[in-house]
Amino acid sequence: MDTLPAPFVPPAPTPRKTPPSTLEMIRIVYRNPLELWGEPSYNEPYISVSGIGGPLVIANDPALIRHVLVDNAKNYRMATVRQKILRPILRDGLLTAEGDVWKRSRKAMAPVFTPRHIFGFARPMLERSLAFAERYETGGTVDVATDMTMLTYDILAETLFSGEIAGEPGSFASQIDRLFETMGRVDPLDLLRAPDWLPRLTRLRGRKTMAYFRKIVADTITMRSERMKSAPDEVPEDFLTLLLRAEGPSGLTRGEIEDNIITFIGAGHETTARALGWTIYCLAEAPWEREPIEREIDAVLAREPDPVKWLDAMPLTRAAFEEALRLYPPAPSINREPIVPEQWRDLYIPPKAAVLIMPWTIHRHRKLWDRPDAFMPSRFHPENRDRIDRYQYLPFGAGPRVCIGASFAMQEAIIALAVLMSKYRFNTTPETRPWPVQKLTTQPEGGLPMTVERRNPAA
Ligand code: HEM
Repeated sequence: MDTLPAPFVPPAPTPRKTPPSTLEMIRIVYRNPLELWGEPSYNEPYISVSGIGGPLVIANDPALIRHVLVDNAKNYRMATVRQKILRPILRDGLLTAEGDVWKRSRKAMAPVFTPRHIFGFARPMLERSLAFAERYETGGTVDVATDMTMLTYDILAETLFSGEIAGEPGSFASQIDRLFETMGRVDPLDLLRAPDWLPRLTRLRGRKTMAYFRKIVADTITMRSERMKSAPDEVPEDFLTLLLRAEGPSGLTRGEIEDNIITFIGAGHETTARALGWTIYCLAEAPWEREPIEREIDAVLAREPDPVKWLDAMPLTRAAFEEALRLYPPAPSINREPIVPEQWRDLYIPPKAAVLIMPWTIHRHRKLWDRPDAFMPSRFHPENRDRIDRYQYLPFGAGPRVCIGASFAMQEAIIALAVLMSKYRFNTTPETRPWPVQKLTTQPEGGLPMTVERRNPAA
C-alpha cells in the first residue's frame, strides 16, 4: 500500500506560553483576537479568570458547552460585547434579537429554511457558480479569498432577491463590504465595557454607509411587496418572497424583514466564502487529499445532473469542507452571558461573566482531537464521524440558536466546490502565505493568491 505524505499543517498562531500585559491584550484584541489564547485555552476543560472588562469563562468541555448552549440555554443571553458590535447593524434580525422577538422571529422563519426551500435554491446556486467559474477560463493568478466572497455574494443576491434590487446593483455589493468593514469591529471601548454614550470611533464612519444601505433594502422590499399584490403568480420563490409571506401579527414586522435581509447578508455571505477559500487552499497544499476528491466530483457529475443530490453523493468533498470549517471556523467565537450566576460541577459562573465558547480553541483542543493542527479530512469520513462529540465540533453553533442557514451553506459549498474543482485546479505560489485573522469572520490576511489552470483542457 502507498504511504501518504505527512498531513499538511496550515498556518495558525502558536498558543502563548505567558499571558500578555493588559495593554498588549488590548492591542491583540483589536488586531487579531486569535493570537490571544495561551496553552491553557487549548488544554483545559474550562478557564475562569478576571478579564480586563470583568469575569471571563472559557468553555472547552463538550459537556459544559452542551449545558450552556442547550440544557440551560434559557439562562444565557447573547454577550454584551457581541451585541454592541452587531446590534447597531442588524438590529432585530435573528442573530441579534433576544427574548420574545427572537422566539417569534425564529418560529416565523422556520418555514423559510425547510429542506424543500433549500433544495429550491440548488439550481440558482449551480447557475451562479457556473457563470462565475467562466472567469477562470483564461488561467493566471487570482485571489481565491476575494473571489469566493464575490461568488457567495452572487449566490446570496440571487437567492435573496433574484437580482431584483432597487438602485444600482453594483453599488449594493460595494456598500456591503464597507458596511461590515467599518461597523462590525470590536472597539477597545466595548471590551472595557465602557458606557454606550462614549462614541466608538471605529464605528462612526459606517453610519452613512448604513443609512444608504438600509434605504436600498427598504426600497427593494417595497418593490417586491407591491409586485406580490399586483402579480402574485409571477414573483420568484426567493428569500424575500418567503420572508414577506411570513409578515403579519404573529410573524415578522416589515422592519424585522429588513433586519433579517441584512442579517442574512451579514451572517451568510462572508462566512461561507471564508470556508470555501480555506478549503481550496488546504487542498492545494495537500494534493494527495485533493485527487480522490476530484475523482469523486467527476464521477458524481457524470451520473447525477441534479445538484440537490450532490451533498449526499460527495462524502469526501464534504469532509474536506468540514475539516476546513474545523481548522478555520468562520465564526470563531460564540459568546454568552448568564442571566443569573450558576454553578456547573466545580465551576462557578459569576454574574455578568463573558462565557466564551470558541470553536477556534475547541476545534484545536489538545485533549479532544488527534493531531489537532493538521488538515486531515478523513476525520469526517462517514465511518469516523461517530468519534466526534456533537459539542466538540461547532462551526454552526448548537442548541436553540444554532445557525438557521447551515443546510443552505453546506449545499452551497458543495455545489460551488463541485463546479470549481471539476473544471479547474488551484495551486499555491510562493506568495500564498495566509495568516488567519479574526475580524467578523476568520479571514486569510494576505489573501489567497493562487494560480488557476484548467483540469481537462480537452474537455
Ligand atoms: C459556513 C457558513 C456559516 C457559518 C460557519 C455560520 C455560523 C453560525 C453560527 C456559529 C451561529 C450561532 C451563533 C451563536 O449561537 O451565537 C449562526 C447563527 C446564524 N446564522 Fe449562520 N453560519 C453560516 C451560514 C449562514 C447562512 C448562509 C445564513 C443565512 C442565509 C446564516 C444565518 C444565520 C442566522 C440568521 C443565525 C442566527 C440564528 C439564531 O440566533 O436563531 N448563516 N451561524
